[in-house]
Amino acid sequence: MGFSTFKSANKLITGQTALEYLVQAIAQLKIQKPLIVTDQGVVKSGTIQQVLNLLDVEYSIYDSVKPEPELEQVQDCINFYHANQSDAVLAVGGGSALDIAKCVAALAGQNGDIRDFVGTDKISSRDIPLIVIPTTSGTGSEVTNIAILSDTKNQMKQGIVSDFLLPDVAIVSPVMSVSCPASVTAASGVDALVHAIEAYISVNHSDITDALALQAIELIVEYLPQAYALPSNLIAREKMATASLMAGLAFGNAGVGAVHALAYPLGGKYKMAHGVSNALMLPYVLKWNVLGCAERLSKIAKLLKLSNSNLAMENAEKLVEFLHKFCQQLNIPAGLRYFGIQEDDIPALAAEAIKVERLLKNNPRQLTVNDIEAIYREAY
Ligand SMILES: NC(=O)c1ccc[n+]([C@@H]2O[C@H](COP(=O)([O-])OP(=O)(O)OC[C@H]3O[C@@H](n4cnc5c(N)ncnc54)[C@H](O)[C@@H]3O)[C@@H](O)[C@H]2O)c1
Ligand SMILES: [Fe+2]
Repeated sequence: MGFSTFKSANKLITGQTALEYLVQAIAQLKIQKPLIVTDQGVVKSGTIQQVLNLLDVEYSIYDSVKPEPELEQVQDCINFYHANQSDAVLAVGGGSALDIAKCVAALAGQNGDIRDFVGTDKISSRDIPLIVIPTTSGTGSEVTNIAILSDTKNQMKQGIVSDFLLPDVAIVSPVMSVSCPASVTAASGVDALVHAIEAYISVNHSDITDALALQAIELIVEYLPQAYALPSNLIAREKMATASLMAGLAFGNAGVGAVHALAYPLGGKYKMAHGVSNALMLPYVLKWNVLGCAERLSKIAKLLKLSNSNLAMENAEKLVEFLHKFCQQLNIPAGLRYFGIQEDDIPALAAEAIKVERLLKNNPRQLTVNDIEAIYREAY
């Protein structure tokens, strides 16, 4: 029925020595003075040095991206870009640094306030070259046309969606994530798992996104616990880097749904890390979704050899149980109560979540504000 489009970064470079491609990418894009956009965690761990050692051009570094950054940080970084007469953006970091960098590359050449660009297709062009190197596995931001930034005014996460945010080159190497703290490995790894699951059950899924999502799910379930248990395990890191990229391709095209929609207000209001808020909502939203996508959840359960009943509902419920335990093993606290949220706050959270129509419309079960309140209460 109809047609579907498939978007990605223009070029994807993967593997343990992928970083070596950076020199070639810089030459091909005729970059002379890139602005490196990164954050303190990546700098202090020394991981940034692996990139700096390769550069044979003059560069500047903006290293103050905050986790779950605010919309306003884009303008701060654009000012820095111009002050240093940069001619390209090179992002090195997790989703936070990548999202700021994507917006800077697309907006440094345009007039207007960052808030004018919140929403879908509000950006009209991008002339500034953009190379991204993720250091978490991950958000998949290296291949999506989305940047998600915190809006402190409205206490929400806001999405800027535009094909001009798609990078020219994404270099995805496992050596960049070895220094990730365990809690970041866990949270960003579960985020990738949620991307794959939500893409697979999205009403906009296609055969292409299905293949990517299922492979990503299998890889994450096998290798995320290993990367968490032994951060230096380069095979686990590589599988996770590839899996989060695949999950990014899947959700960047099929979309994510109610797990993300219900996670947004938690990130916006309580500053919860994106992966943690998603992990908290995952089993509860999926339990609610079973009615709308039992067959698809059952397929995932069978793929993971969790259950092989002839009843799709039964298999789907086994998957939900498994995901609870999976997140617990990664030491992600199960329950909103552990994050300073009061039960009385739930109606306000639901009132915010119902506004995330951009994502709720992809969900296999339609949710009312009362349904959302009920899900938050179960997750409390
Ligand atoms: N654009 C998209 O498609 C997309 C998708 C999902 C999430 N996001 C956004 O991405 C952000 C979350 O990104 P994230 O989960 O990658 O985490 P992050 O970028 O916020 O980083 C989390 C912490 O880990 C540290 N860190 C990252 N990599 C490190 C490394 N290799 N070594 C040492 N420390 C390291 C950072 O310094 C930071 O303190 C959120 O704002 C979320 O909304 C975007
Ligand atoms: Fe996400």
